Amino acid sequence: YRNLRVALLGGGSVGAQVAALLLEHGEELANRSGAGLELVGVAVRDLDAERTPAIPAHLLTTDAESLILGADIVVELMGGLEPARSYILQAINSGADVITANKALLATHGPELFEAAEQVGAQLYYEAAVGGAIPIIRPLRDSLAGDRVTRILGIVNGTTNFILDRMDVNGDTLENALAVATELGYAEADPTADIGGYDAAQKAAILASLAFHTTVPLESVHREGITEVTAGQVDAARKAGFVVKLLAICERIAIVDADGAETGEYGVSARVHPALIPAAHPLAAVHGANNAVFVQAEAAGSLMFYGAGAGGLETASAVLGDLVSAARRHVIGGPGIAESTHATIEVLPMSSVRTRY
Ligand code: NAP
Ligand code: HSE
Repeated sequence: YRNLRVALLGGGSVGAQVAALLLEHGEELANRSGAGLELVGVAVRDLDAERTPAIPAHLLTTDAESLILGADIVVELMGGLEPARSYILQAINSGADVITANKALLATHGPELFEAAEQVGAQLYYEAAVGGAIPIIRPLRDSLAGDRVTRILGIVNGTTNFILDRMDVNGDTLENALAVATELGYAEADPTADIGGYDAAQKAAILASLAFHTTVPLESVHREGITEVTAGQVDAARKAGFVVKLLAICERIAIVDADGAETGEYGVSARVHPALIPAAHPLAAVHGANNAVFVQAEAAGSLMFYGAGAGGLETASAVLGDLVSAARRHVIGGPGIAESTHATIEVLPMSSVRTRY
């Protein structure tokens, strides 16, 4: 195999899981991607901090810039705008492909980063930036590229869904539920991003940009969080047959003239706010830190993407998928979409199969 050097920026909730999976499953990932993925280091702030899972001490460094030099693939899992933006630009300009889960950065500086990557022929992967483990970026960017998406309706923040669910099902307070979500690694470093609806608005901007083939600036996304939602309101909603959910809604809207006639032109609307969902609606059954994204498209009809929306291990799954894509791109060229050519698992005859569900 050709060996690819992978630099990891961040060893927190997601980064520590990515490091562990890379180290544990290295051979399997190499077989799938056709390249060895060598973890050359993990940049952190505090070399002595406890990490779960633990990262071998010899891999840890506080010198991110040196780590980026010579890396083939840089995985940014630090979060925040700076220095993440500068490190990603450094990586791109030194010829590396970049993987990030940083929706705040993408929603704020996405066009600059994509342009920088395009100029040098690098790729920027970000499947983990929306919906945690749920594949939603590739379906919107690739699978639905030939269709016309008309609406996206989603629960895209795991922390707020976890909090609202605990308030509804356990009668918990917002403050207590947020403390548990933080302990479980769901919340952002500054959880105001979650409960204030900023994180969901960033994700709405990313989804709307992809779905409607445009740039939806973060400032144009209407945002309301859950900080004003009270236990009394959640209780009253339940008694009336509803649940409260924080929704992201992105729509393609026909523009009408002064007489109300359609002009043939379309605009995009993106908004995030708490909403009352009928208890029988599928979104009402999205519990804990799970996310669900409904996509409506003219030809495809309605599609639903569901799964773990937050959590270090779950999010690491999406990051590892991007790593395999990036490695395949290095090996075979193109966008990194390829069948696995190195069979490592036996195909069993029907007689030896015992199905259990
Ligand atoms: P986290 O637990 O706060 O980890 C951040 C890591 O980055 C820490 O290891 C920290 O080092 C390191 N770091 C921060 N600033 C640094 C700097 N200036 N130089 C070097 N290292 C620095 O964050 P996380 O939950 O893993 O999230 C990482 C990214 O994934 C964020 O963009 C987040 O929005 C995104 N994301 C998270 C989830 C989730 O469920 N957690 C899901 C999807 C996407 P120390 O450990 O030494 O402090
Ligand atoms: N804080 C985010 C959430 C992490 O709770 O959804 C996943 O993007």
